[in-house]
Amino acid sequence: ICKILIFTSMHDFSLLIRFWYRQNARNLPWRDTNNPYFIWLSEIILQQTRVDQGLNYYNKFIKHFPTVYELAKADEETVLNLWQGLGYYSRARNLHFAAQQVLNEFEGVFPSTYEGVKSLKGVGDYTAAAISSFAYNLPHAVLDGNVFRVLSRYFADETPIDSVMGKKMFQKYAQELLDQQYPAEHNQAIMEMGALICKPKNPNCQSCVLNESCLAFRNNKVQSYPVKSKKIKVRNRYFNYLVESDEYFKLEKRTEKGIWQNMYQFPLYETTHLIEFDKLADEVGKKFGVRLTQKLAEYKHVLSHQKIHATFWSVDHEIVNNEDFVNVKIANVDDYPMPRLVHRFLEDHNPKYGES
Ligand code: ADE
Repeated sequence: ICKILIFTSMHDFSLLIRFWYRQNARNLPWRDTNNPYFIWLSEIILQQTRVDQGLNYYNKFIKHFPTVYELAKADEETVLNLWQGLGYYSRARNLHFAAQQVLNEFEGVFPSTYEGVKSLKGVGDYTAAAISSFAYNLPHAVLDGNVFRVLSRYFADETPIDSVMGKKMFQKYAQELLDQQYPAEHNQAIMEMGALICKPKNPNCQSCVLNESCLAFRNNKVQSYPVKSKKIKVRNRYFNYLVESDEYFKLEKRTEKGIWQNMYQFPLYETTHLIEFDKLADEVGKKFGVRLTQKLAEYKHVLSHQKIHATFWSVDHEIVNNEDFVNVKIANVDDYPMPRLVHRFLEDHNPKYGES
């Protein structure tokens, strides 16, 4: 912390970013409210989603579920359907569960303490700090990817941000810098700095209000921060989806835990490696009793820990029904929550999709 005192007082840090924020912040609907339910919704939506994409979903959710009560009372399929396209569906399931927690454990009133907020499913340290500062102006500093980047550069601190030590260290910096009188504005400001100025690539240091005291900038090493200890391992998965026709097809509900649980997809044959067509056709034939006739489309879908290579195939006749499959007509396909990837295939390749 003594590093801070050399270049600027901690007070100046907050003054500078908040002054900048008032003039440069994006106008976002969840910033114009103190409603903890709205703020919580926005934070869950924005956890792994860009602001421009999240905006539509935020508006849809508050329109559909104006209070936490309506959200809690909805059925899961409705919530997943509205979430369609955002990905990382465990967020939606946790959202729904947490709304029920508010009803059952907090008598329908959104909790107003940091600990109360953090007891909700899907709410971790960051989200609890964000909600308690934005909604109640409580002095809890947020630490998300943006804040890690700003602070690691500002202090030229090489502690890996993905280590326990790094998390402690940067949480401490963040908490010490936090303005006790204006935690809400301070937290918004530091995150907005990370999003608009102190960007991962091509940071805009020339316009940065902290550039005089930023150690990484002074050392001309902005691109060396933040430091990470390990590269995340990405698992490749190869999904082969079987599509019987444009009009009728089978969908299966994914029961596997993890990504896309309870969403619907075409009957799937998954391999761990890319395999030759003849081998794939043979294995698909054994499992489903159909022959692959044509490759319809290929998509790649990159998630934080896996890369999905999806190929959609047409097949020569109907797949024998088993109890895991439902028969679906194209006109009814929107009744089934689907991964973005499957939805995209229908939009791009099914001439009947969207007709009504
Ligand atoms: N990302 C997460 N929370 C945000 C917020 N309140 N404003 C802008 N981007 C965000």
